[in-house]
Amino acid sequence: MPDLVSIDYLVSPGGILNGDIRVPGDKSISHRALMLGAIAIGETRVDGFLQGEDTLATLAAFQSMGVKIQRNNDCLTIQGVGLLGLQPPAAALDLGNSGTSARLMAGLLAGQAFDCSITGDASLRQRPMQRIIEPLLKMGAVISAGPQGKLPLQIRGGRKLSGINYTLPVASAQLKSCLLLAGLYADGKTCINEPVLTRDHTERMLETFAVKLERQDRQICVAGGATPIATRVFVPADLSSAAFFLVGASIAEGSDITLTRVGINPTRNAVIEILCQMGADISLINVSEVSGEPLADIRVRSSALKGIDIPENKVAIAIDEFPAILVAAANARGVTRVRGAVELRVKESDRIAAMASGLRALGIVVKTKDDGIDVTGGQLTGGTVESFGDHRIAMAFAMAGLRASGPVRIHDCGNVDTSFPGFPDLAAEGGLLIEVITDD
Ligand code: S3P
Repeated sequence: MPDLVSIDYLVSPGGILNGDIRVPGDKSISHRALMLGAIAIGETRVDGFLQGEDTLATLAAFQSMGVKIQRNNDCLTIQGVGLLGLQPPAAALDLGNSGTSARLMAGLLAGQAFDCSITGDASLRQRPMQRIIEPLLKMGAVISAGPQGKLPLQIRGGRKLSGINYTLPVASAQLKSCLLLAGLYADGKTCINEPVLTRDHTERMLETFAVKLERQDRQICVAGGATPIATRVFVPADLSSAAFFLVGASIAEGSDITLTRVGINPTRNAVIEILCQMGADISLINVSEVSGEPLADIRVRSSALKGIDIPENKVAIAIDEFPAILVAAANARGVTRVRGAVELRVKESDRIAAMASGLRALGIVVKTKDDGIDVTGGQLTGGTVESFGDHRIAMAFAMAGLRASGPVRIHDCGNVDTSFPGFPDLAAEGGLLIEVITDD
């Protein structure tokens, strides 16, 4: 649904970030806990569920397919219906802005007995879906899409899927997860080979729900018919949301914050390594594990940053953190170069173009490439930037305001609620001088 009220952020320079900060639950893990809880046998309880628009879209989709889910703030109780217990939804499933919901659910729905369709908002309707359609068709699914393989998808029910052995042509955890979920409904084994490492939350969550996987080197196999068994899931805080504070505290002199109980899954945590390589002062405390996912408190103190060439093999495992990393780069001495990151062009916005546009508006020298960007660090000026309706662009530029020479205004920040409801309040509590300006 389009936002009727336009929301801008206005950030004044001079904030210092301090204290303990608990960002909301991990978005990727929340989606997966919900999906597997819905098709599990028995009652699943989820604590720390992200109450963002994206994960609530997944929740509403399962409710519309007859799954009983009770939500008490960030705690869910899901009455699983088993692999084949979903009911046909009365209308198309509208997954809003959420690529994870659309792609993972397409896999899960390809094996159902009923027809259904998936749609989303204007941004999601522009995002590539051919990458999931092609292998699902190979498995025997019947799916038709809009022009250029985009949403809406019509998924035909009652098809018998067969396992495939498939090598991912793009480094995408969403694609891998889509096929593993479809694999639960297929005859035989589904094996996915990933030449480039991507986040493994689906694999870990399947194992938490007692689904046995064969995982060897870069291959993951799941057997058709393996039914998830209900369990208790604790969702760690989202490292992608914490990343804005990692960068903010690094660049705002005098800052010293601790982000508590944040997921640090090694297939997802390259932002920490990249920032440390740039000279950030980051330490991990109280490292532990919940529901098969590692987590830690992350302490960050301000420090002088330097530009680096970001290793290409770190790109996929820091993919959502580039808006924040590029703000760090703009505040670093020298040039930061990103390559091998063409996927950034097909996120909630074209994040290479969106970051280049905003950084230039704040006086930073930027060169873009098809698959990357060079940012030359310097003094940011105040100015006005566009979020392009993208939550992570909005939050990244909010942090840029800490070190700009004048106020930074960010247009169109309503989408922050997709992944980080309450961001401005939490950031203000931490010390960011942020004002929310609404105009209806
Ligand atoms: C996600 C995977 C990533 C990431 C997205 C969430 C997931 O997408 O950008 O925000 O939960 O699997 P790709 O795997 O398509 O790169």
